[in-house]
Order: sequence, then C-alpha cells, then structure tokens
Amino acid sequence: MKYAILSDVHSNLEAFQAVLTDLAREKVDQTFFLGDIVGYGADPDQCIELLRGLTTFVVAGNHDWAVVGLTDYSYFNPLAKTAIEWTARTVTAAHQEFLKKLPLAQNYRNIALVHATPCEPEEWNYLLSLEEVHLSFQHHDRQICFLGHSHVPIAFKQDEEGQSSVLPDTTFTLRDSQRYIINVGSVGQPRDGDPRAAYGIYSRDDSCFTLKRVPYNIESAQEKIIAAGLPHFLAQRLALGT
Ligand SMILES: [Fe+2]
Repeated sequence: MKYAILSDVHSNLEAFQAVLTDLAREKVDQTFFLGDIVGYGADPDQCIELLRGLTTFVVAGNHDWAVVGLTDYSYFNPLAKTAIEWTARTVTAAHQEFLKKLPLAQNYRNIALVHATPCEPEEWNYLLSLEEVHLSFQHHDRQICFLGHSHVPIAFKQDEEGQSSVLPDTTFTLRDSQRYIINVGSVGQPRDGDPRAAYGIYSRDDSCFTLKRVPYNIESAQEKIIAAGLPHFLAQRLALGT
C-alpha cells in the first residue's frame, strides 16, 4: 500500500494542481489531507472542490475553522486575519458547510492524522521541543502520526526505550518497532526556505517515507493574490519559501 500525505494548501491552486499531477505518477492507494485547505491564497473554492474529489480523509486546520467561526483567530497576525476575513466573504455557502464539518483528527489503520498536535489539537500548538514531541507520542496510539501546521517538514521518532529524537533527514526507512511523528510541510506556502510545494509519500511495502518537492507556477499564484486585493506580502513570500 502506498499513501500520499498533503497539508496546508492555503488556497494556492497552482501549487495544489502541480502536486496532484506529480501524485498521479505515484499511483497511491489513498491520500490524506492534514488541514488548512484555505487561508492566504486567492482560490479557496477551487481548492476545496479539488480536495472533495480527492479524499474523505481530511482534518480541520486552524484557518479552515477560523473562516467558519469555529475557532478564535484574534491571535492571528494581521496578514493572516485579513486573509481569513477575505476568505470568509469569498467561499460559497456549500463550501463553508464542508469546512464546518471537518473533524480535528482521524485515524487510518496504523496512522493518526491531525493538523497541529495529537495532544489538544484544538489548541493549534506547535511542536517546539522534544518534551512536547514526547507528550504527543503519548496522545496517539498509532505507529505513525502525520501532521502539518508549521509548514516546515521535520520528522521525529520514538525508539524502543521510549526516547524521542529528531530524524536527521525527511526521507527515511521506518522500523516496525519504532513510532513516528512526521510533519509533511506545506503544499501552498512552504516556510523552510524552499519555495517548491512539499508533500509526503509513505510506502508500507518498503517501509519508506519520502518528502517530495514539486516546482509550480509561483508567478501565477502571486498575480491572483494581488488581483484579489490580498496583502502583497502573501504573494512575495511564496517566491521566498518563508
Ligand atoms: Fe497552515
């Protein structure tokens, strides 16, 4: 079995389409989406439509819930707030209903899916220390937890003695005796300095996780953001990968 794991599209249709084209060549059995289909970019409705046709394994991101009033976004930075309010005015009523029904977490066989953290996912915390990683391992019972939210790919393992550590690479072989928390980065707004869209492929057959990077038409996504009247920085940052 082979799985694709996508997160944080953020209404970036060009990046999403480029990833889906790449994905078609991978011939996966199932696709998971880890939240934040909307927010920041100019094509929320088109991205939701594509996602609905792709998979039912979708969890809510903080931007998805903020757009439909299910989470407080007063702590968002001003650019993110502007994008949330623009998106709330733009998205169709049917798509708002779709966003409202997204769950905070889902499980699939040996895999847990969540946007932010398995511990209190509704708090939208970030995994910033190994103590928090350790706590997260205690709050899910699957071998692997895939998550997004930070837009920065990183992977952690818990060894046979229960010790948590950061893996040195984002492409690696999994051992049956160990557990993993894997952040697959962001399709539509990478923040690790590499502007290419990021997503993950997990092959159960050879126990391998691969982080893929896909170039896309950044200029087109930027032009749409500016034409929509969204903050220019949201366009500029796509070229920087920040
Ligand atoms: Fe996000």
